[in-house]
Amino acid sequence: MSSFRFVRCFATRARASRTSAFALGSMTPLSTVSVSFRNRIFPSVSRNYTAQTTEKKGGKTAILWIGAGLIAAGAGYYYFVNPELGAKTLVPTNKEPDYQKIYDQIADVLEDNDWDDGSWGPIFLRLAWHAAGTYDKKTNTGGSNGATMRFSPESDHGANAGLKAAREKLEIIKKNNPEITYSDLWSLAGVVAVQEMGGPKVPWIPGRKDSEAAACTPDGRLPDAAQGSSHLRDIFYRMGFDDREIVALAGAHALGRCHPDRSGFDGPWTPSPTMFTNGFYQELLGKKWVEKKWKGPKQFVDKETGELMMLPADMSLIQDKAFRPHVEKYAKDEELFFKDFAAAFHKLEELGVPRTGDEKVYYFKTKE
Ligand code: HEM
Repeated sequence: MSSFRFVRCFATRARASRTSAFALGSMTPLSTVSVSFRNRIFPSVSRNYTAQTTEKKGGKTAILWIGAGLIAAGAGYYYFVNPELGAKTLVPTNKEPDYQKIYDQIADVLEDNDWDDGSWGPIFLRLAWHAAGTYDKKTNTGGSNGATMRFSPESDHGANAGLKAAREKLEIIKKNNPEITYSDLWSLAGVVAVQEMGGPKVPWIPGRKDSEAAACTPDGRLPDAAQGSSHLRDIFYRMGFDDREIVALAGAHALGRCHPDRSGFDGPWTPSPTMFTNGFYQELLGKKWVEKKWKGPKQFVDKETGELMMLPADMSLIQDKAFRPHVEKYAKDEELFFKDFAAAFHKLEELGVPRTGDEKVYYFKTKE
């Protein structure tokens, strides 16, 4: 990795300057050079010194030590203004993780069992989104940095019901790659899910750091599926998204399903819940949706078969005048949806992560 090479170059340079600082105080040739240079510039001062041999030696040594001190101070200042480089250089770093390798390992576990509809992809994506969707731009708290959902109370928030299974499933990847943080791992698992289920390439940047339980976000930052468009705006505007991005992100409901033992709702949104498509918008516009008659929370089912479902929050995307045109565009144009989803999902995954703008952006090869 280029950043790693740079750190190593810097370490070599720092070692070299430390060596020359020590050499200055002891090596005769360097001392000779500085004396003859001084003689040329200050001949009268030199003459005075030649008359007092002892003082001359002491003066020479003092100058050399001052020189050494200045160089050492310079090196120290360089570390001071580049604290991260300094820390990385002084404490030997591990090699940067091979993220494509970790991507491949996550891809390998997606379908290694009979979880749900045959893939861990949908729940990995939901984990990545719920870890990031706690962001509050006003206070700059929450977001995909931290992985605080490992801890109570965040792990017990109603919106996160069922995500323990995804976190536990990813433990094997963490064990095999201890150098990746949980927050990077969950975020990367979201990218793997989208790409491996046939969605767009999503640019990804590592560098998230895990936080302690004290950084858990308060309950209520994720959307409530029972509510409508004004609630969706409150939640997503708080993160910094606009209407078009809200609609693009909601297209992830082409994947997976609702579970009565998790959210209380029931059923998949599309007949292909392990394929990333623009199917969510097509179903939303193309089917007649009626309220499901049951004892559970209010939700909608398609009138024809009763097998597909929509949440009240999903329905608000076609009831709201500003949301609906985006639903219509994405239903017609999958390429546009893929492009907008990739950009919005990348933005979601960056929420709360401190960046300099110089980070390397990764694009992963899909497994097959
Ligand atoms: C617009 C506001 C949203 C609401 C109200 C909402 C609500 C829900 C609910 C109630 C479930 C069912 C959970 C369960 O019972 O297992 C669910 C599942 C899911 N959500 Fe959302 N969601 C929203 C946005 C998003 C976004 C932005 C993404 C990703 C970018 C996403 C991805 C998913 C996925 C993939 C599942 C399926 C999980 C599985 O099959 O286990 N959702 N969502």
